[in-house]
Amino acid sequence: MTRWLPILLLAPLFAAVAAQGQPTRAEGSTLQNPALPDGDGRTTFLRVCSSCHAPEIVTHQRLNHAGWEDLVYMMADQGAVATDGELDQIIEYLSRSFPDEGNPSA
Ligand code: HEC
Repeated sequence: MTRWLPILLLAPLFAAVAAQGQPTRAEGSTLQNPALPDGDGRTTFLRVCSSCHAPEIVTHQRLNHAGWEDLVYMMADQGAVATDGELDQIIEYLSRSFPDEGNPSA
């Protein structure tokens, strides 16, 4: 019986930590965000780019394709975790959704 005591004491703790992890997932609130247009890459963008800062600091930017490409690779250098394919998906999504329309060279 005494062998099991530590496990019995720890089990509720693990359960509490696991339960707490869930509502704080980015998908919960930000997936409803109307400022984020639908499209391929939206979910990937939210998963990869909202772990360090709010997605809003990204979606306030307006950049051309090259600009988004630079920025996404810069964030990958900062530690954003994604495959090359996912980074491409994010670049396409951002340059489609938040283009720099005022810039004729875009
Ligand atoms: C590992 C953490 C991390 C992840 C993941 C991350 N970023 Fe960042 N991001 C940062 C930090 C740190 C800054 C502030 C850097 C600075 O201003 O020098 C920042 C700043 C920014 C800014 C503001 C730049 C400016 O000019 O003020 C944008 C836009 C941005 N990130 C976009 C993205 C995008 C897009 C992704 C997903 C591909 C992403 N971030 C993922 C860490 C991260």
